[in-house]
Amino acid sequence: MTFRARRGFVAAATVVIVCLLGAGYEASQAPKPAAPAPKPAAPAAPAASGAAQGQPPMAENVYLNVQVLKGIPVDQFNDAMGMFASALLLDCVGCHHGTITSDPKAFAISTPRIERARQMVVMMNNINRLYFGGQKRVTCFTCHAGDPTPEPSPSLRLQYSELITDTTSFEFFPDIAAPPAEKVLARYIEASGGAKALASLRSFAATGTYLGFETSDTEVPFEAVVRAPEQRAEKAETGANDLLWYFNGNQAGRYHPDTPIPLIQFTGWSLIGSKIDTKSFFPTELAKAFQTFQMGYGEVEGKETIVARGINKGESPVNLHFDSATGLLVRLVRWVDTLAGPVPVQIDYSDFRDVAGVKMPFAWTRTWTNGQGIIKIKDIRPNVQVNDAQFARPNVPTTSLR
Ligand code: HEC
Ligand code: HEC
Repeated sequence: MTFRARRGFVAAATVVIVCLLGAGYEASQAPKPAAPAPKPAAPAAPAASGAAQGQPPMAENVYLNVQVLKGIPVDQFNDAMGMFASALLLDCVGCHHGTITSDPKAFAISTPRIERARQMVVMMNNINRLYFGGQKRVTCFTCHAGDPTPEPSPSLRLQYSELITDTTSFEFFPDIAAPPAEKVLARYIEASGGAKALASLRSFAATGTYLGFETSDTEVPFEAVVRAPEQRAEKAETGANDLLWYFNGNQAGRYHPDTPIPLIQFTGWSLIGSKIDTKSFFPTELAKAFQTFQMGYGEVEGKETIVARGINKGESPVNLHFDSATGLLVRLVRWVDTLAGPVPVQIDYSDFRDVAGVKMPFAWTRTWTNGQGIIKIKDIRPNVQVNDAQFARPNVPTTSLR
């Protein structure tokens, strides 16, 4: 809940971002093969062995040297790398061989830190099995807390300085003084335009700009088509090979043609969470997306928020931050499960404007352990005609480094 301030974090996190898809950048800057196929493009590498067409492949069938993080889909493996980098505040080359920026196969090269990290996975699993009933209670972050060398001695600075609330803490402490969920959600629906206006907004198309590590931190044109309750397609235009994201209720993922593994399908809590993200554009849908709520207080950008932690059995909790002053949803924090514990995903909404009687956010910022996407919307057209095909998974085979 409370956390010590860490100055170095922003700078360190930025390094992580730049490194993550380093291989992708290089690829996108390398001369393009003659006559690129029209999108969706044919894959560069053969289909991943062992993965039936359409099923998310396991990491060991896609990567070259997976020894301990086996039996999980590629997206969860990548999120475990996010946990490693974030928990130790190292960028990818902090553990991996320096040549990863030009050769994606170099991620498979063992280094002393990689060997050590493999041992740590085994140690962590043993601790959790022996002392925590197999729950992922002790994670890389539990010990490392942003430090490659965990500190054995308590900190007097921490003990005697002001504690700062961290809204990405998985631990949640309900506050009995906080208002009940029904009241907070009713106010949210009212502040967003009221049930009547919300009921008549069932889809929209948004255009604006996207800036992220995948676009080398430059703004590129962005488009989204969204349909209630949980379908969404997004595109960031980077030239011949646009970045795509798709969410159709049953499947979700991203297709970034210039990266070593272009199609990454979202699974587990990531798939469930992407539905919640879409519902956050439709307040009445979001309000009924959870079995129970715990209530507390938080803070976003120096302003007090009322936090409703939405809970569905067996799924990631979702912390919904409602601005105490306006009642609007300004932050959503959820978690993605990895073999090394949960990693946070945070979405911030701001710049609310009126669209067909509904208060819609025109700034969406998505932050996770290995990247950040900043979306600025210029125009939203309500209730556009959409068809199912727009939300479908791009029809490309899964690819492998093997
Ligand atoms: C704390 C050290 C550490 C950091 C930081 C780290 N990794 Fe890893 N990485 C590992 C370990 C350990 C393995 C091997 C896992 C196994 O054997 O199951 C690995 C394996 C991989 C692989 C599979 C390579 C192959 O072909 O077998 C990829 C891809 C990868 N990491 C990507 C990344 C990315 C991207 C980042 C930066 C966000 C990153 N890693 C940061 C330790 C790290
Ligand atoms: C129970 C506590 C604990 C957990 C859990 C833990 N570590 Fe460690 N780790 C340590 C300690 C203590 C050290 C420092 C050992 C030393 O000083 O040589 C360390 C060292 C390391 C190092 C070597 C750092 C260096 O300076 O080169 C790596 C890499 C590492 N851990 C990765 C991980 C990863 C990845 C995870 C999660 C899978 C993890 N650790 C989980 C306690 C932990």
